[in-house]
Amino acid sequence: MKSPFPQKKKKNAPIGQFLADESLPVDHRREILKMNLLEPTPESNQLMDEIIAVMKNQHAESAFLKKNEQLATLIKELESGPLRAAVFISVDGKTAQVMLEDGLIAFSVVPNEKLAKSLRKGDRVLVDGRARAILRRAPAPLKIGDEAVFERRVNGGYVEVTLRGQEKCVFYPTQDLEEKIESGEVEPGAKFIVNARQSIAIDALPPEDGFSSFKFLVNEPVPDVLAERDIGNPPAIIQQVAQHVDIEMNHPELRREFGLPRSLMALLTGIPGTGKTLSIEAIWKKIYEIMSEKTGVPIEELPPRVFRLRMSKILSEWLGRSDKNVDRLFDEISQLANQAWIAPDGSEHDLPALVILEEIDGIAKMRGQDSIFDRILTGILQRLDPNRPDVRDNLVIYLSTSNLPEAIDVAALRRVGGIIEKFGRLDRDGFRTVLEKQISRLPIKGGPEPVVAGLTAWLFSPNGSDPGVIELDYTGSTNPDKRYRRDFLTGALINRAVRQASEAAATEAYEGKNGSGIHLEHFVESMNRQILATADQISAHNADRFIEIPDSARVANVRRIPQPDLFPLQLQTQPEHPTRKS
Ligand SMILES: Nc1ncnc2c1ncn2[C@@H]1O[C@H](COP(=O)(O)OP(=O)(O)OP(=O)(O)O)[C@@H](O)[C@H]1O
Ligand SMILES: [Mg+2]
Repeated sequence: MKSPFPQKKKKNAPIGQFLADESLPVDHRREILKMNLLEPTPESNQLMDEIIAVMKNQHAESAFLKKNEQLATLIKELESGPLRAAVFISVDGKTAQVMLEDGLIAFSVVPNEKLAKSLRKGDRVLVDGRARAILRRAPAPLKIGDEAVFERRVNGGYVEVTLRGQEKCVFYPTQDLEEKIESGEVEPGAKFIVNARQSIAIDALPPEDGFSSFKFLVNEPVPDVLAERDIGNPPAIIQQVAQHVDIEMNHPELRREFGLPRSLMALLTGIPGTGKTLSIEAIWKKIYEIMSEKTGVPIEELPPRVFRLRMSKILSEWLGRSDKNVDRLFDEISQLANQAWIAPDGSEHDLPALVILEEIDGIAKMRGQDSIFDRILTGILQRLDPNRPDVRDNLVIYLSTSNLPEAIDVAALRRVGGIIEKFGRLDRDGFRTVLEKQISRLPIKGGPEPVVAGLTAWLFSPNGSDPGVIELDYTGSTNPDKRYRRDFLTGALINRAVRQASEAAATEAYEGKNGSGIHLEHFVESMNRQILATADQISAHNADRFIEIPDSARVANVRRIPQPDLFPLQLQTQPEHPTRKS
């Protein structure tokens, strides 16, 4: 064979190498090929085989690329359509078994290899509308469902559980759960969260800590209300309860000797805003202080011991199940009261419990409307019977509140109201102390004393500037009853007025008008505004919710009395401040 190439240069190079040599012109290479095809030799035959093989490969490669492109388009299409959540069960090659939300099994492809490798049994995934492909992982695992009890493992990676206390089912455990079972972390008898529709046991519930089973136990920090510091004119009940708990915790034999029960019941009644809830919070704190002292454990580390039930909640949300809830509440109280508490140092303690029953008039008001209310009330009264052993022998403080004591029938009052504490409008001294408490930490121009004295004079002076705010007519009486500013005073009203005064002074300070704190005039103005706003809400039907009405009197009519201009006015303690533009 005659080669057109300089033999010395590429003597033994195979023809294939010449053909592939990019430094040679293409024409040149084509000539070599032609010549070799015309004069077949073993070498040129091999070359042709090689060429055929390359062409076959090239074809396969482009087919593969084309397929890939088509697949990407398809996935894009699937992803842009509606997606469904499913639970991944297993994968065999590229085909995965998933459980759809309706409980049907589907076999879907997993186009993404990385995803296929990382999926674990029980993972939530997103599939296209027809469940042809698993497109990706669902954003977050869902850990909600029914509760079931774990019975045993079943061969093949299943678990048997009991649903609703009776139905036995076999479910897929998630891989996480399976691992927990394998390691012994979760044992038969444990509670599972399951999705019964999809036949998946999702996870094990953490064991109950002893408190989470209590539905009515309050899990809040102890309120920071101190009677001495925060409550003006603190009602006697605070001290009474504190003493009771102190005796029962430190000298329990004393009251036994006198045949007295361990529990205490009190009814706190009065119009809104008079400090009932505030006093209960102070009692709550006191009880924790006593517990802390007795056990040597800081307040924050003591267990929850307070139950709270708002009657209106029982009546609205749970009507139909109300009596069951009442039973449950009292069962919980009894259970907690009977269970000794083990302190971090291992010592055992018998601790008091506090039960707050708010707005009990709610139930009493409904009596006679529907038999369910009677049943609820009867249930409550039975459970509060002081002769019941669990009431008599457990250190439980029951505090009920009501805006309308007369709405509660006598039997309820006698039982619930072992002690009845009436919260009312503030008298002169009461007003002074409540105001002092509420302004003690505020920047007051000239200090708090002149403000307290000035406001007290404005509200209480017998022949001051107060012409009366409203006039009431009672049914069957011709004597109108005038109510003055001082007749509207409650802790809540003072609280609102103080805030409003602070608000006004702060605004003035911001505007550069007044840098020296809250003035007496701010207080007079805000107090006046609060009183008139309260008066505006009063009608013949609701007067008893705002002011005290004599027993058995019925309001027939309410008249507003025209008010004098507030400023200028003579404020006794500050004659040097006669005017201020308002
Ligand atoms: N004796 C008081 N001393 C200081 N502040 C008081 C006093 N009484 C009431 N207040 C203030 O009034 C606010 C409302 O009082 P609280 O919530 O205790 O009223 P209440 O009697 O429970 O009313 P309701 O019947 O509407 O539940 C308290 O947060 C507190 O700011
Ligand atoms: Mg209250």
